[in-house]
Parts: sequence; structure tokens; C-alpha cells
Amino acid sequence: MSNNMLTVRTYVPADADLTMDIFLRAIREVASKDYNQAQVDAWAKIEDREAWAKRRSSRPTWLVQCGSVSIGFADLEPDGHLDMMFVHPDYQGIGAASLLLMTVETEAKRQGLGRIFTEASLTARPFFERRGFTVLTSQTVEKRGQMLKNFRMEKSLR
Ligand SMILES: CC(C)(COP(=O)(O)OP(=O)(O)OC[C@H]1O[C@@H](n2cnc3c(N)ncnc32)[C@H](O)[C@@H]1OP(=O)(O)O)[C@@H](O)C(=O)NCCC(=O)NCCS
Repeated sequence: MSNNMLTVRTYVPADADLTMDIFLRAIREVASKDYNQAQVDAWAKIEDREAWAKRRSSRPTWLVQCGSVSIGFADLEPDGHLDMMFVHPDYQGIGAASLLLMTVETEAKRQGLGRIFTEASLTARPFFERRGFTVLTSQTVEKRGQMLKNFRMEKSLR
């Protein structure tokens, strides 16, 4: 599969279910190589679909498409926080996250932000490092009673 099949579009409310599915599958089938079953179960859970939909619509969110199939999404909060970056298991390693990140960076620069930052999973850390992020600290966060390691990372846009 080549990169020129990939395009980005902005999120619309009808995409809520789609993003939920990508989120759950990316954790269960990709991040699961770096976290144990109990951690995956605690992380890959959406209890409140309305709250999810509301949160997605509350900030710029983009979907990446491979042809007509939506295969990943990312977002950008007003302070430069990149909260979500998830790619469907069947479409790993074809540049989907890279294209999303380029989109996020372009928008962040347009807004005049000096940096973007994220809490990268063990799985995503190598991706963010390759794209110019540095680790500020490693941390352990609690999700539904499970402790998960991740990395606070940032990239300067100046
Ligand atoms: C991390 C993730 C978003 C990367 O998505 P992707 O679309 O496969 O990434 P890309 O194809 O754009 O890869 C970009 C670069 O990162 C590298 N990369 C990606 N994942 C990597 C990994 N696990 N280990 C080493 N390198 C990796 C690729 O080799 C590629 O490098 P290159 O093009 O410079 O040679 C995806 O693996 C994912 O959804 N993971 C599970 C969910 C998750 O943990 N999300 C982050 C929550 S913070």
C-alpha cells in the first residue's frame, strides 16, 4: 500500500462510532504487545459513548483515510496537547500517523503554538521519537485500577 492513497479530513459527529472502534482495536491488537491483559482491558473501555462523542467534537480532530476507509484519528487541544493518536491494526506502518501528525503540527503552527506535547504509550514512543519528539519524563498513570506506564513527550515547533 502506498502513501499516496492516504488523505486527511476533519472529524464530523457521525464519526463517533468509527473513532471508538479504531481506539479499541488499536489498543487491543497493537498496544497489547506492550501492556498486559489487565492493563489492556482497563484502557480499552468506553463506558459513556455520549461523553466520547462530546469530547471528540470539543476540539479539532482529524481522520486519515485510506481510499474511502477511515483508518486513524488524532486531535489537538488549545494548549498544544495531542491527546489521541490511534491507527487501525490493519493499516499500521503505512504512514497514517505521520500524515495525521503533519496535520496536527500545521494546525498548531497556524494557531501560533510553540510546541505540542503528548503522553505516549510504550507502543507509540518510537513513532513520536522518529518524528522529532523528546521524552520529558516517564510516568505511571492509573486507569480503572491498573497502573500503565507512558511518556510525557514534546516537540518544539519553533
Ligand atoms: C503509534 C501508532 C499511532 C503509529 O501509527 P502508524 O500509522 O503505524 O505510524 P507510521 O506508519 O506513520 O510510522 C511512522 C514512523 O514511525 C515508525 N514506527 C511506528 N511505530 C513504531 C514502533 N512500534 N516501533 C518502531 N518504529 C515505529 C515507523 O517505522 C515509521 O518510521 P519511518 O517512516 O521514519 O521509517 C500506531 O502504532 C498505533 O495506533 N498504536 C497503538 C495505539 C497507541 O498506542 N496509540 C498511542 C496512544 S498515546
